[in-house]
Amino acid sequence: MSERSLAPPNIELEESYRIGREGVETVGLRLVVDNDKVGEMVVKMRADKATLFIDEIQIEKKYRRKGFGTQLLRHAEDIAKGCRLTRIELRPFTTDESSMSTPLLRQWYSKIGYSGTRNSMYKAC
Ligand SMILES: CC(C)(COP(=O)(O)OP(=O)(O)OC[C@H]1O[C@@H](n2cnc3c(N)ncnc32)[C@H](O)[C@@H]1OP(=O)(O)O)[C@@H](O)C(=O)NCCC(=O)NCCS
Repeated sequence: MSERSLAPPNIELEESYRIGREGVETVGLRLVVDNDKVGEMVVKMRADKATLFIDEIQIEKKYRRKGFGTQLLRHAEDIAKGCRLTRIELRPFTTDESSMSTPLLRQWYSKIGYSGTRNSMYKAC
């Protein structure tokens, strides 16, 4: 076994961009493991709302089903708490049917604590 495989992975969440416009702050985040891009997430926050909105979340195909998507959602919770927001919201529609159908995607969010309707799911944090 190589020395590298024994070392714990170096996991980083990088901010790729931040745009503030008309009271809405949009932040692009990149999950990087051992210098390889694993996935990304885009979150939006409005100055007058206590909700963090997840606009996009995606994991690169080769890294799916390894827990990284769940990890990104946990990061979203940490960001929300850090900004004193009390709720996370998203639209549960798949952008890649080859990974998960929309019904499976909704089940995935439910497993992580999200509830709501077909069009919108949320979690208190
Ligand atoms: C949704 C997405 C981010 C999940 O990322 P991920 O890293 O694969 O998720 P996790 O590893 O944390 O969780 C995977 C779990 O989802 C469920 N799941 C994923 N694919 C599944 C499938 N084809 N069939 C059944 N369950 C599935 C399982 O519960 C699985 O857990 P398990 O592997 O222990 O059985 C990823 O599939 C993705 O990038 N999809 C395309 C983009 C997209 O549609 N984003 C959502 C926009 S709202």
